[in-house]
Amino acid sequence: MFTTTLSPTASHSPALDLFEAIEALKQELNAVILAHYYQEPDIQDVADYIGDSLGLSQRAADTDADVIVFAGVHFMAETAKILNPNKLVLLPDLAAGCSLADTCPPAEFAAFKAAHPDHLVVSYINCSAAIKAMSDIICTSSNAVKIVQQIPADQPIIFAPDRNLGRYVMAQTGRDLVLWQGSCMVHETFSEKKLVQLQMEYPHAEVVAHPECEESVLRHAHFIGSTTALLNYVQNSHRTQFIVVTEPGIIHQMEKQVPHKLFIPAPPLANCACNECPHMRLNTLEKLYQAMAHRQPEIILPEDIRAAALAPIQRMLAMSR
Ligand code: 13P
Ligand code: SF4
Repeated sequence: MFTTTLSPTASHSPALDLFEAIEALKQELNAVILAHYYQEPDIQDVADYIGDSLGLSQRAADTDADVIVFAGVHFMAETAKILNPNKLVLLPDLAAGCSLADTCPPAEFAAFKAAHPDHLVVSYINCSAAIKAMSDIICTSSNAVKIVQQIPADQPIIFAPDRNLGRYVMAQTGRDLVLWQGSCMVHETFSEKKLVQLQMEYPHAEVVAHPECEESVLRHAHFIGSTTALLNYVQNSHRTQFIVVTEPGIIHQMEKQVPHKLFIPAPPLANCACNECPHMRLNTLEKLYQAMAHRQPEIILPEDIRAAALAPIQRMLAMSR
């Protein structure tokens, strides 16, 4: 059925063969490969589109491909499936979850919501479909401020699940949000002390940071934004050195876009690689190939949850235009 040069069970050391095989499968399946910036460089290089969570959702909403191969984490692929119930959505490794999404279990969130009956629920897209189904509007790191600003000033709001993004939105909008106390283990690993030491080493470098970082780190940032916003910023800034305070996967695109500039990954507190997202990094080029060759693992959702989660995502897409 599949006319690739590789057997799906063979071990694939030459990356070039995998690139060719994936290209062939893309044509054969009429597939589109959507990848997040935190994916390994090989995956980014084989993708049809690389973006932040908002860009990836917009692409997933617009695609006319039959198969969406989602190189990202589970909640991202799930969002693509919510938008495309009749398409096959593949995730190279089904275990690629999200520590932040895991901090918001549906039963506990339902009780939290019930305790705040007059509140509108704005949920960061980094949550499960079950949480989306309980939300009024979804947002991403690139549109959270814009979305909250569109909600009438006297409307109380629950913001879930990321307390750091929530606090950032509060500071930007002057709104008082009721925050769910979730966080991302990757973005909370950055150390203010080590960041300040790095700034002393590179006094001309600008600090660019993702809003999932803690306030103590964000206060040293010259620019705060989503992964796409960070990429645009380093391209347009006249500066040539940047300390990048987010998952270092984004540096691959930064170096491709502006190769003459220097990008220094911000260090984690401990001597570890814990600034790399262990969930994102579960996907590999080999697993992506296998997923396309076998048309699995696929994202499957109960229809009632999918249908309930669709409206808040559509509201986000409409409010982001
Ligand atoms: P973006 O909205 O920048 O893609 O962020 C997604 C994410 O998971 C950050 O940890
Ligand atoms: Fe989730 Fe954090 Fe990984 Fe982003 S970096 S996918 S928020 S665990």
